[in-house]
Amino acid sequence: MAMALRLQRLMVLVLASMVVGSVSLSHHPDEISRLPGQPHVSFRQFSGYVTVDHKKHTSLFYYLVEAETDPASKPLVLWLNGGPGCSSLGVGAFSENGPFRPNGKNLVRNGYSWNREANMLYLETPVGVGFSYSIDNSSYLAVDDEATARSNVVFLQRWFNKFPQYRQRDLFITGESYAGHYIPQLAKLMLQMNRKHRIFHLKGIAMGNPVLEFATDLNSRAEYFWSHGLISDSTYKLFTSACNYSRYVSEYYRDSVSNLCADVMNQVTTETSRFVDKYDVTLDVCIPSILSQSKVISPKGLSEAIDVCVEDETVNYLNRKDVLAALHARLVGVRRWEVCSNILDYEVLNIEKPTISIVGLLVKAGIRVLVYSGDQDSVVPLMGSRSLVHRLARQLGMNTTVPYRAWFAGKQVGGWNQVYGEMLSFATIRGASHEAPFSQPERSLMLFKSFLEGKHLPEVF
Ligand SMILES: *[C@@H]1O[C@H](CO)[C@@H](O)[C@H](O)[C@H]1NC(C)=O
Ligand SMILES: *[C@@H]1O[C@H](CO)[C@@H](O)[C@H](O)[C@H]1NC(C)=O
Ligand SMILES: *[C@@H]1O[C@H](CO)[C@@H](O)[C@H](O)[C@H]1NC(C)=O
Repeated sequence: MAMALRLQRLMVLVLASMVVGSVSLSHHPDEISRLPGQPHVSFRQFSGYVTVDHKKHTSLFYYLVEAETDPASKPLVLWLNGGPGCSSLGVGAFSENGPFRPNGKNLVRNGYSWNREANMLYLETPVGVGFSYSIDNSSYLAVDDEATARSNVVFLQRWFNKFPQYRQRDLFITGESYAGHYIPQLAKLMLQMNRKHRIFHLKGIAMGNPVLEFATDLNSRAEYFWSHGLISDSTYKLFTSACNYSRYVSEYYRDSVSNLCADVMNQVTTETSRFVDKYDVTLDVCIPSILSQSKVISPKGLSEAIDVCVEDETVNYLNRKDVLAALHARLVGVRRWEVCSNILDYEVLNIEKPTISIVGLLVKAGIRVLVYSGDQDSVVPLMGSRSLVHRLARQLGMNTTVPYRAWFAGKQVGGWNQVYGEMLSFATIRGASHEAPFSQPERSLMLFKSFLEGKHLPEVF
């Protein structure tokens, strides 16, 4: 009897100390018990909403995948896809670097998931994207880069209230494509807010095939097409002198496409063929349409809208009732979850505002910056990104610390890279598309790991 009582007291004590000692043992309302079709895993997942504007009932949807091993010792990494208006859940988490990929009714493991190295937080932003919604649909109008950065920062602050254990954690922001606009602006806002109190422990940002400076990024498309045999010498000349791509996009978004530009673009489109995937020009097979996240960079009307891949497993999966329930997600004001929002009305001309100068401010403030390029992408080609980073280093007076050289993943060349000073680097990922972790998962994971650790990429195998 006494023995039993003592044992009971001991148990209570043990339980009490477990609760105090570790927040993560208690049940969290946003914890996902299991996603439909998911294999057994050891890490924890959470998803749900954070309200960023109470008046308009604006809520952003997130999905957190904790690190596979020892999450308490690993950094927090926010991942953002581009568009603007495309989903980090559908594109980033379920097609690129998340732990699972939909396959029929089931989910299969991605062996190169980024949660091997970090706690991954995927955010559907801005409002109107994916499961993120507002009751007041004026919230979807005239959304711009600045408003997006503001709601992202409010999201994170309030998200920390749900997950206080991550408040002091090293924070990195990563993403691709139009996130070349989102990420520097969000990081800059964080640094401004940190001046009063240190709220964000921001250590670095990494951006894949990012739009950093409109004209340089877009106009490198001509050279990419030409050097990969997609257009002829004479069309290259037209596409670089008569009407370049930045001029075309500029005219397009002002509803004033000149006859000259229309003619040049027709010629370019005819030669490149609609049946080549612009996100990976050398792949035989198409990339699923879910990965087409460059709404602004490749506007419709270029007759590139044809989709030669019919099956979108992620779209099917994320629209299942049981999946919505498991994710704690709701469809508000929309009938379906879409890869890229149809209700968001984004200020598309924001694409013309350069963000490379903001990247410079971040480097000077001691934030580690990596710009990387999937080298098979013609949408935001490597040449533009490489020259922008090089130019920035020169402007900042930074010297090359690692000269342009190949880096290795396993026994093969994973790509090329160059490092400037301690904080700024550029890398290519060999054989990778616009969505590098989708097409080169192992090389992408290796680059990600070395970025987080602040280590140089392997020089030999
Ligand atoms: C906003 O919602 C109202 C009421 O549901 C609807 O009548 C209106 O057309 C919506 N506006 C937009 C821009 O979607
Ligand atoms: C692109 O065209 C615009 C407008 O004609 C011009 O100002 C700009 O210099 C061109 N850029 C390149 C890289 O050719
Ligand atoms: C870069 O190299 C030059 C020449 O070696 C040197 O004078 C300068 O101090 C270096 N700058 C930095 C920031 O290290």
